Amino acid sequence: MTNKTHTEERTEATEAQIAVHWKEEQYFQPSKAFIEQANMRDPDIRKKFGEDNFPDCFKEYADMLTWSTPYSTVLDTNNPPFWKWFTGGKLNACFNCVDRHLAQYRNKAAFIFVGELEEDPPVALTYQELYVRVNEMAALLRDFCGLKAGDRVTLHLPMTLDLPITMLACARLGVIHSQVFGGFSGQSCGSRIQDSGSRILISADAYWRSGKLIDHKVNADIAVKTAKEMGQEVDKVLIWQRYPGKYSSPAPMVEGRDFFVNDVLERYKGKRVEPVSMDAEAPLFLMYSSGTTGKPKGCQHRTGGYLAYVAGTSKYIQDIHPTDTYWCMADIGWITGHSYIVYGPLLLAATSVVYEGTPTYPDVRRPWRIAERLGVNIFHTSPTAVRALRRQGPEEPRKCNYHFKHMTTVGEPIEPSAWRWYYEEVGKGEAVIVDTWWQTENGGFLCSTVPALDAMKPGSAGPALPGIYPVIYDDDDKEVPKGSGQAGNMCIRNPWPGIMQTIWGNDQRFVDTYYKRYCKNPKSKDWRDWPYMSGDGAMQAEDGYFRILGRLDDVINVSGHRLGTKEVESACLTVPEVAEAAVVPVMDEIKGRVPDVYVSLTPGAENSDDIAKRVVKACEDMIGKIARPRQVFIVPDMPKTRSGKIMRRVLGAISNGRDVGDVTTLANAAVVDEIRTMVQGKQAASGEGQPKQ
Ligand code: PRX
Repeated sequence: MTNKTHTEERTEATEAQIAVHWKEEQYFQPSKAFIEQANMRDPDIRKKFGEDNFPDCFKEYADMLTWSTPYSTVLDTNNPPFWKWFTGGKLNACFNCVDRHLAQYRNKAAFIFVGELEEDPPVALTYQELYVRVNEMAALLRDFCGLKAGDRVTLHLPMTLDLPITMLACARLGVIHSQVFGGFSGQSCGSRIQDSGSRILISADAYWRSGKLIDHKVNADIAVKTAKEMGQEVDKVLIWQRYPGKYSSPAPMVEGRDFFVNDVLERYKGKRVEPVSMDAEAPLFLMYSSGTTGKPKGCQHRTGGYLAYVAGTSKYIQDIHPTDTYWCMADIGWITGHSYIVYGPLLLAATSVVYEGTPTYPDVRRPWRIAERLGVNIFHTSPTAVRALRRQGPEEPRKCNYHFKHMTTVGEPIEPSAWRWYYEEVGKGEAVIVDTWWQTENGGFLCSTVPALDAMKPGSAGPALPGIYPVIYDDDDKEVPKGSGQAGNMCIRNPWPGIMQTIWGNDQRFVDTYYKRYCKNPKSKDWRDWPYMSGDGAMQAEDGYFRILGRLDDVINVSGHRLGTKEVESACLTVPEVAEAAVVPVMDEIKGRVPDVYVSLTPGAENSDDIAKRVVKACEDMIGKIARPRQVFIVPDMPKTRSGKIMRRVLGAISNGRDVGDVTTLANAAVVDEIRTMVQGKQAASGEGQPKQ
């Protein structure tokens, strides 16, 4: 299975090779107890959301929101593929998440914060208290920072309640928030500040991770410097303190630029800010994601459609009720956290748990103690976390007295054996599991079982969600017959309310990346001519369930997070001695994939361990720890085609201990053997040679 546009250069879709060979599994049925309480029990739901009722079916989701002005048109397709949803309508995201719940749920917890240090007890924040804090923060953003609707603000915040408070305060004003994952480096943050044109950076002094209080303010300084070098000035840096009133970073505060949020907030005590009524199509936030080229793209999400889609999917797929205590272990800095820690649960007046630290700190029983202590009944995590928790503590869940009714897995394919452990051990055989497939671009889930209606099948994400009509294309752009089990490129035929509006500041890239390849007629205003290309490989079994096989492009999925190979390669090339760099995904038992780096040196440069170390450091500094290579191989030359393209496919095969295939057409075939001996010799010595799945 190849993507025609990059056949020669692309690394193999190794996920596909594994997942295609998983055998069809037996079904698991949801329990009677779950079905009886489920939000969605209508067996005709997919018919109701069928093509005959498109796009009006999505009114059901829009009706879950409170509109200050009702919408007049459900879907406007006048300018494909720039779809508009619920036009004419106005609403405020913060009002929908907070204010409208006060009458009924004023003193119910909106969030429960669990710090990493176990001796610090969890802290509940009620809807009323959230309302107060968000209003004060909104007043600060408006009056101290001069922000107004449509401005962008970059957030680089760790997992404390300061993050959702800041997001909701922005939303209250119609300010577009752009939260950069807290684990990303200062430089990554800086380039996102520049791309989004933010004048204000909101960061923090420190946070707890794996038992250490990590200095984070240092990243704010690097971010501002990077943005400035790229041409974007930052006027103010707001610093939330991990311990209000105490500064936990050695980095000095810059006079006139840096301010402690807690100090400035004193001026806005008791202030109330009217929520600004925004057009349904006004952007709500940006979320940067890696793509096939070096520069991350700012996925721009709209207010009305996005909120409608996360409300609907949180209600029907996550089965969230206001009485539930819901814990999604992702980071709010990823799309999962935006949609399914903050906006979705709050729209439904649930209690959402925010955990600061690592799941395995101080020991592997920690998540289950948290679940027991807080009475969590809905749990949401990634296959990487499931694999790590299983490996380190397979019997730990049974030692804690919690009961989940519902569990989610997201971000990567989950192998059936890990699925079964999740089901039997973590879910104690009582909880349903939804394997939800979607992407940063999509706003919310695209494939999943509807938990009370569809049987679960380990290793398969399940059917498309109601109102989503997928199609799989083969390499010749022909539709793969439905249910044929044949692999191909996963696309969605129709628009849906959660799909991003565009790439911030780059409409052309949006069209080229997602719509160009399969567009049937660029002049058409009929949505049927504009399938969305996901970039994932998939196959559909006879029962209609989709099995997602992984990325078809130059993106590596590390622990469920996207890393662009080009981004990592650009980081490697900042080391002066490095002439060429190639990054390939290697299978990893826990993280799914990790990057291996191959570099060749400039003439005259001496091969040394120091260069490899600096390559690793460059990846960490420019992207973040998530991009840390497993190994750096300094090679005499890159395997290349006669036209001079680096054959990443060959390097990928070597790193994964696979057959390199036919290399006779290469310009320098001899180097392949040399590299193989170097890599596999090193792996044999460190015991890391073979693929582990
Ligand atoms: O390859 C798919 C994989 O994660 C990619 C999207 O990553 P990101 O935009 O970071 O969003 C992650 C959380 C929504 C997809 O292109 N992916 C996501 N969910 C699944 C998955 N692969 C298999 N099964 C899933 N359930």
